[in-house]
Amino acid sequence: MLVLTHTFICVFFLCFIFFLGLLGEDAPLPAPHNISILSTNMKHFLMWSPVIGQGETVRYSVEFQGEYEREYANESWIPICECSLITVTVCNITEDISATVAYNLRVRADNGAQRSEWGTLKGFFIRNTTSLTPPLMKVIADGYHLLVELEDMGPAFQFLVFYWEKSQESRKMVKEVSSAIHLATMEAAAEYCVKAQTYVETINRSSSFSQTQCVRAQGNNVPIHFGSMWLITVLMSCVGFAAAALTLPFLVWKTRKIFQYSCCPIAVLPDALVTFSLCFQGLILQRREEAEECDLMVHVIPSEEVLCLWIQETL
Ligand SMILES: *[C@@H]1O[C@H](CO)[C@@H](O)[C@H](O)[C@H]1NC(C)=O
Ligand SMILES: *[C@@H]1O[C@H](CO)[C@@H](O)[C@H](O)[C@H]1NC(C)=O
Ligand SMILES: *[C@@H]1O[C@H](CO)[C@@H](O)[C@H](O)[C@H]1NC(C)=O
Ligand SMILES: *[C@@H]1O[C@H](CO)[C@@H](O)[C@H](O)[C@H]1NC(C)=O
Ligand SMILES: *[C@@H]1O[C@H](CO)[C@@H](O)[C@H](O)[C@H]1NC(C)=O
Repeated sequence: MLVLTHTFICVFFLCFIFFLGLLGEDAPLPAPHNISILSTNMKHFLMWSPVIGQGETVRYSVEFQGEYEREYANESWIPICECSLITVTVCNITEDISATVAYNLRVRADNGAQRSEWGTLKGFFIRNTTSLTPPLMKVIADGYHLLVELEDMGPAFQFLVFYWEKSQESRKMVKEVSSAIHLATMEAAAEYCVKAQTYVETINRSSSFSQTQCVRAQGNNVPIHFGSMWLITVLMSCVGFAAAALTLPFLVWKTRKIFQYSCCPIAVLPDALVTFSLCFQGLILQRREEAEECDLMVHVIPSEEVLCLWIQETL
């Protein structure tokens, strides 16, 4: 009986120790779940829901397995260095998805003391499932030139650009790699429309079309009319300015001359007239007693005295 009791206590104690041990060790770290791929325009991201662990920060590591590894490398997995022990729950796997084959992806959590099981993406990821967005496009009418500017999306992207004259049915298509394209020389005043889609050769897929944008070419007359008007205005201004530049000194000179004659006449007139003028002026000024206003030098030459006196008498 005593031996039995002793054995019972012993077993109980061992069990207690075992349970203590279990409690002392952390609950196992759950594997990341809800693993998904977000792939847009050939940029691929692996995402998962965060793992809640005790104590230390949970870190994640990602590995992938392509067709080659699966079939020829003993189903080995390749770690993604950029996504080794990261704290965020997203991994940029763009560089690692280098072929259009089926990829396996997996991620595990690590909190320093513990590592979780691998959580694996359900199914495969093939990059041809990426969602392609239509390109951002700007259509420009530069005079008669129809230009289109497209967003640079990287070397893997080509653009299929369709353009047409709105009043006509025929459509032209150009396949271009550059981001700025001269499409056509437009008919005067005609309206042209453009739409574009991106094309990725490596996956043989195209995006949907961008919204159609239309522009109108310049008219035949209006800009030329404005141009010539401008030219005429400039020419007229030049002529006007030149005329003013030439006329103004002449006018000034002429005015001065007139003033000179009416006020301070000098010997440009024939002698007799000058004499008359001098006398006449002199008389007027004398009468108005404003002689000082004019620095007129009245030379009354004896031979002309008679005339002056005669005028004086007449007035
Ligand atoms: C799974 O992930 C998506 C985004 O990747 C998120 O919107 C969703 O809430 C997640 N579901 C669960 C159950 O965590
Ligand atoms: C393939 O992996 C197994 C175990 O997973 C191992 O026994 C075997 O040696 C490996 N073969 C090669 C060629 O690496
Ligand atoms: C993801 O990686 C690709 C290739 O290295 C890079 O071009 C892209 O900018 C990265 N995207 C982000 C959001 O880090
Ligand atoms: C992607 O490629 C696979 C074979 O490589 C093919 O079966 C699948 O139809 C393709 N999907 C798309 C959307 O092109
Ligand atoms: C690309 O896809 C089209 C159908 O969308 C198909 O007709 C064509 O043969 C494909 N080209 C290549 C090179 O796979």
